[in-house]
Amino acid sequence: MRARYGDPFTMHTVGLTVVTGNPDGIRQIFSAPFGTYHVDLPRSLRRVLGQHSLNGLDGEARRRTRKLLAPGFHGDSLRNLAGVIHATAVEALSGWTDGEVRDARQAMHAIGLDVILKTMFGVEQAARLGEFRQAVLGLTQSLGSMAYLLSTVLRIDRDDWPPNRRLDAARERLAALLRENIAVRRADGAPRVDILSRLMEARAEDGAGFSDDALVDNLITNLVAGHEPSVLTLTWAFAWLGRHPQAAARLQEEIDGLGSDDDFAAIQALPYLDAVVKECLRLYPAVPEVMRMLSVPFELCGYALPAGINVAACAALLHMDPALYPDPERFYPERFLERTFNGFEFIPFGGGERICVGNQYSVFEIKIILAVLLRRGRFSLLDTRPVRVTRCGFLMGPADVLVRYREKP
Ligand code: HEM
Repeated sequence: MRARYGDPFTMHTVGLTVVTGNPDGIRQIFSAPFGTYHVDLPRSLRRVLGQHSLNGLDGEARRRTRKLLAPGFHGDSLRNLAGVIHATAVEALSGWTDGEVRDARQAMHAIGLDVILKTMFGVEQAARLGEFRQAVLGLTQSLGSMAYLLSTVLRIDRDDWPPNRRLDAARERLAALLRENIAVRRADGAPRVDILSRLMEARAEDGAGFSDDALVDNLITNLVAGHEPSVLTLTWAFAWLGRHPQAAARLQEEIDGLGSDDDFAAIQALPYLDAVVKECLRLYPAVPEVMRMLSVPFELCGYALPAGINVAACAALLHMDPALYPDPERFYPERFLERTFNGFEFIPFGGGERICVGNQYSVFEIKIILAVLLRRGRFSLLDTRPVRVTRCGFLMGPADVLVRYREKP
């Protein structure tokens, strides 16, 4: 579309959408004043995420919820969770045997889910982990089913429509488990470092915090918004490193140079690991474009646009711009060591006031998991033919990333 029509161009997606992949256009979208956009979450998504989900909120309610949510995913809160993420990855790897072959996406799914359950949902006992995994699986299966996707497209909102009924039941199972975790915290008041506990303590300026329903809705939102893109980014790391032995060797050397893989500050500061994660986020951004619906007329790249249509900042185009990323289709993490990119040139987490709440959390988590796996094992990719991209739930990711695991010599 860009090659044919230039930038920006107009598409019919969920309405009329003017798309740009140009850094100046993206700057305009992300820097627009408060009130330029409004949120119009489809009912089908509201059914999953809930009434109080950040994703469906607008105006003051949105600002307030973001303020309550954000600290749980940043700074000190993250540092407290590093040990749990590390232990989860170590435990997962202990189940692998020398020489076995695994589907990297499934393997990363299992690790990523347990990390969410322990760090965000505050699941503490192994027995509870099983219950939660089942409940999450039930929800993601209903969500990913063709029947449900079709009802979303056809906008079938009826409660008695079987795919909707299945989804409601699956959501309620997970919500009930979350409410139990909330009740335990309210009852015993013991100090905990998980994100649920942080969110329960969070207070707005007027002293009010989240209601239980708002906690449940936002935890489910974070699960739905955050799990799959983090898993796909990890899977991409295996897909790219397996095809680029020089990059893999450079990363391996950097990680082997760590004193230990539980020196979390050192892991976060590794420059090549950082560059590899960024390059994975750049090449096939899990969320290829972010949209905003205009509440007021808006000027984008010199075009006067009316209220009521969407504008989209397209990472998939921006990240392929050869002026910013020479030889853009090449996996070349060094580009992130050679120059820095601002928030309008590299946008895997979107930008502006709606930038991803989990941006720091996910990079923090991905780096620890990769450091543990590469420090303790050796992985080779079975099929190194050019990458094939396929649908993975709501998103797109690499197909057939089969890796052979070897114990560290
Ligand atoms: C590699 C992993 C991830 C990627 C690539 C990613 C990407 C994105 C993108 C592109 C957006 C839209 C931002 C915008 O509209 O400008 C978004 C929003 C969001 N993400 Fe993430 N995300 C990731 C992980 C996570 C995690 C782990 C969480 C959970 C804590 C999370 C929670 C959210 C939420 C709640 C929103 C909605 C923010 C709002 O509407 O204000 N994401 N994410």
